[in-house]
Amino acid sequence: MGRYHAASLAGYCPSAELVRVVDADETVAQEVGRDLGIEWSTSFNDLIKDESIDAVVIAVPTSFHADLIIEAAGAGKHVFCEKPISLERQPTVEAIAATRGAGIKLQIGFHRRFDPDWAAATSRIRAGDLGEVYLFRTSLRDMKPPTMEYIKGSGGFFIDVTIHDFDTARWMVGEIDEVMAFGAALSDKAFAEVEDIDNALIFLRFHNGALGVIDNSRVAGYGYECSTEVMGSKATVRVDNPSRVHMQWLTPGQAARAYVESFIERYPIAYRAELEQFALAVCDDLPVPVTGEDALAAFDLCTAAHLSMQQRRPVSLRHESGLHGVAYEMAGT
Ligand SMILES: NC(=O)c1ccc[n+]([C@@H]2O[C@H](COP(=O)([O-])OP(=O)(O)OC[C@H]3O[C@@H](n4cnc5c(N)ncnc54)[C@H](O)[C@@H]3O)[C@@H](O)[C@H]2O)c1
Repeated sequence: MGRYHAASLAGYCPSAELVRVVDADETVAQEVGRDLGIEWSTSFNDLIKDESIDAVVIAVPTSFHADLIIEAAGAGKHVFCEKPISLERQPTVEAIAATRGAGIKLQIGFHRRFDPDWAAATSRIRAGDLGEVYLFRTSLRDMKPPTMEYIKGSGGFFIDVTIHDFDTARWMVGEIDEVMAFGAALSDKAFAEVEDIDNALIFLRFHNGALGVIDNSRVAGYGYECSTEVMGSKATVRVDNPSRVHMQWLTPGQAARAYVESFIERYPIAYRAELEQFALAVCDDLPVPVTGEDALAAFDLCTAAHLSMQQRRPVSLRHESGLHGVAYEMAGT
C-alpha cells in the first residue's frame, strides 16, 4: 500500500507534494525513491523532525500504526493512516487522543467512501431517494489470500477485511445495534493453525430497523469482488463489481466476464481521491472526511463480530453520538 500511496501522491494529488519515502527496509525505500525520483530514507524519526513537512501517510504493518501516529502527532504532523489504527482497542484510543491533543488531523484509509459509484449511491440514500432502508447486502472477496506472514500480523479476518464493510454499512445505512457472525477456515488448514478464518458471514441489525448481511472471503478464486445492494421502500441501489474489460465473451450457454484481480485494480480513483481529500483538508484546514472515531467504531464492530463467532451468539451494541463522532460499546459484556 505504501508504494501505491507514494505513487498516487507523486502523480495524482495536485494538493500534495511528495517529499520523501521511508521504509524500514532500505532496499524498498531506495527502490521506491528511485522509481518516483524523490528522497528516500529508513528513518521515520528523521522524517517527522523535518520542519518542511506538513503531513505523513502511514502504510506500515498494522502493529506499528498507533506508535507512529503518536510520534507524528508529537511532532505536529497531520496523519493519513491505513486501516486499522491498531490491532488492539486501547492503542487505537490513545492514538486518536494524541492527535486530538496535538490539534492535528487524522484520516483513516477507508477508500471505498471515495469511489464515485459508492459515493453516488450513498449520496442518493442520504437524500432520501431510496426511502426507508430495508436491506443492506455487501460482498468483499479477495481472489487469493495474502502471505501467511501478513495474515499472522493482520489482527484476524474481521479487523483486517470486514472493517471496510462495517465502515461502509455505517456510512450507507447508519449505526448498528446487533451483530451475528459465522466464520470458517476452509481453503487451507494454515488459517486455523494461526486461529484465523478465510470465509465469513456477518448479519447486522441497524438502529433504524434495517437488516444487513456481509459476506467475506480471502479465496474467491474467480477474481476480486466488492459489490453491494441497498433495498429501500422507494428504490434499490446496486453497486456492481466492474469488469476488467468492458467485453463479455458469449458462447452457447455461457457469458464470460473478466473480473478485476485486486483492490488496487478496482479502486485506483478512490485511493487517489482519499489522499487528495486529505491534502485539501490539511491545506485548507477542513475536517477530514473519515476520522479516527470512524475507525474506532468499525474496530468495535469487528470485535463484536469476533465475539459473536467465538461464542456462537448475537452480540448487542450501544452507541452514542459525541462531539467527535459515534462511540460504540458492547452491551452486557
Ligand atoms: N485500504 C486498503 O485497501 C488496504 C489494502 C492493503 C493493506 N492495507 C493496510 O496497509 C498496511 C500495510 O499493508 P501492506 O500490505 O502494504 O504491508 P506490507 O507488509 O506489504 O508492507 C509494509 C512495508 O512497511 C515496511 N515497514 C515495516 N515496519 C516499518 C516501520 N516501523 N517503519 C517503516 N517501514 C516499515 C516494510 O518494510 C514493508 O515494506 C496495513 O495496515 C494494511 O491493513 C490497506
